[in-house]
Formats: sequence, C-alpha cells, structure tokens
Amino acid sequence: MLELFRHLFALPPGASTFADGIDWLHFVVIGTTLLGSLFVAAVAAVFIVRYRQRNGLESTPRVTASRWNEGLIIAAILSLFVGFWVFGYRQFLQMQQRPPGATLVYVVAKQWMWKFSYPNGQSSTDVLVIPQGQPVQLVMTSRDVIHSFFVPAFRVKRDVLPGRYVSQWFQATRAGRYPIRCAEYCGVSHSGMLGEVRVLSAADYAAWLDAPGREPSRGPSLAALGREAAVRHGCLSCHTVDGQRHIGPSFSRLYGATIELSNGQHLEADVAYLTRSMMDPAAEVVAGFPAVMPTYLGSLPQPEVAAIVEYIRSLKDGPIDPSVLLPRLEVEAAGGAATTAEEKP
Ligand code: CUA
Repeated sequence: MLELFRHLFALPPGASTFADGIDWLHFVVIGTTLLGSLFVAAVAAVFIVRYRQRNGLESTPRVTASRWNEGLIIAAILSLFVGFWVFGYRQFLQMQQRPPGATLVYVVAKQWMWKFSYPNGQSSTDVLVIPQGQPVQLVMTSRDVIHSFFVPAFRVKRDVLPGRYVSQWFQATRAGRYPIRCAEYCGVSHSGMLGEVRVLSAADYAAWLDAPGREPSRGPSLAALGREAAVRHGCLSCHTVDGQRHIGPSFSRLYGATIELSNGQHLEADVAYLTRSMMDPAAEVVAGFPAVMPTYLGSLPQPEVAAIVEYIRSLKDGPIDPSVLLPRLEVEAAGGAATTAEEKP
C-alpha cells in the first residue's frame, strides 16, 4: 500500500524509522482531502442537474439546517483536522527526542559543501557515513548563510543557521546511498550543494571507522583537537579538567549533568548549552560562579567550538578518558590536573 503510494507520487524510498509514519500521514491527509473534494464536486454536479431552473417562474427554496445539524458537521470536520494535527505532533515529538547513545556527527555547512566530523577524528566532505539500525545525532551549524540539511529518503529536513547549533537525529533502516540536498536558497551554487549519505551495515561501519580508505581523512580525534583549542584559547585558565572548582565550573563530569543557574533554573549541560555558554556566557551563568567570562562569538571558529564541546564530552565520566588520543602538549600531566596553570594565552 505504502509502496504503491510512493510509486504513485514519485516519492523517494523510505530509508529511516521516520519514513513510514510520515508517509502514512501524508497518504491519509491527501486521500481524505481528495475524497472530500470529489464528494463535493459530485454532489454539486447532481444538484446542478436535478435542481436546474425548469421554467422561468420557479425559484430555489431557501433551506436552513437545524442548529445541531450544523454543529455536527462543524465538529466532524474539526475533529478530522485536529486528528491530523495529533498524529503530526506526535511524529514531531518523536523526531525531536533523540534516543540516548546516538552516534554523534558534527556538520558544518558552507557555500557550497557539507563537512562532517566524527568523534574519532575522521572527517569527510559531502559524504556522510553512518551505521544502519543505530540512532545518529547530527549537531549542525553554518559558516556563512542559512542552509538546510535535507535527506529526502529519511524524510529529514532541518535548517542550518550561522552562529547557532541545531541538533537532528534519525535512524537509517536500509543500507545504501541516499542523496543529501540543501533545501534553502544559499547563493549561486545552491543547486549544486549536493551530498550523499552512505548507510553501512554495522560490520562495514566498524571496518570503515578502522580503515578510512581514500576519501575521508583521518586526523587526531575531535576531542584531542578540542583539548588543543581549549589550551590555545585559554579556556583551561579558568576551567579545570579534574573536577576542581576554579574561576569557572570544571569540565570534568560537566557534559550531560544537570546544573543550576544563578537565576534558579535547572538545565542539562548538553551540546546546545555548552555552545551557548561560549557564544553568550553571561546569559546562563552557573550558580555560585561570577559572570566574568568574555564572549567567544566571532573569535572561536565553529569547528573549534564543536571540538571543544567534544573534548568536554570526553570528560563526562571523569578527568581523562583513556580512549581519547591526546595531542602532544608542552606539559603532559599524568593525572590531568596540571593542565590549568601552565598555559596562558
Ligand atoms: Cu546551501 Cu542552499
């Protein structure tokens, strides 16, 4: 049924867990409205023939419906549309609430390409490689203008904005290659801003992570780049990585923790919060700390923001994650405690 509908309307194949739900809703809405308009047109045709003016004298009688009759019709049509909304809203919520443990990929859009950075240090341009059957979370930003990340086969479309980080998750159900398009006019080569999602089976994905092949390049891990950037920009002069209190909150065990702000609000220190606190630090200050941090808007390039967030994420379970490939720095403290003092920008 769904396949027939996709064929009929020339829709792309459904390759994510969202596709079937969205296509069903699409199908039901189009089907209902099509039947509704056919019904109205048929009734109109019958009335035109049956109640046509037969001689010059007859006039059409005025018919008034009873109140409950009109109320019933309004209620029936309204509940139909509210029903569409309820299904759509539930799908929207499902698309917003990412499951825990999603594979993280950072995306930077720019005129006119897509750049993908994976937490293990791999990166690729215009080709997003993801595992089949596992949730994937994209954290996306733009270096210049508004773009829109659109994978028709996944029924996923999300605007990518400069100066902001948006998150979108999905789970691919079928291995294969699916086109990525930019769905926001972004300049002369907008139509050429094409990419491809490569969905690999779990085994192929693991092999790809180990052996990158020719296209993607492998550097130090993103967390390691983040640590290097944090040192260079002086973040570690105020934030420790071993859990000790300093001028600002420690990076250790910060990611994913529930923190209290100076205005009494509580929130989760997620990717979005950490990014916001680099761009607009005075807006959401952690309770008990002075609001002295300067903004890094404009001075911290977006790939480095992503790398620093990834570095903080690597410290979520405590001071040093042994899987993190650390770059060679001047001081390599065994306990990770000595990284605060020695580097001044
Ligand atoms: Cu990028 Cu259109």
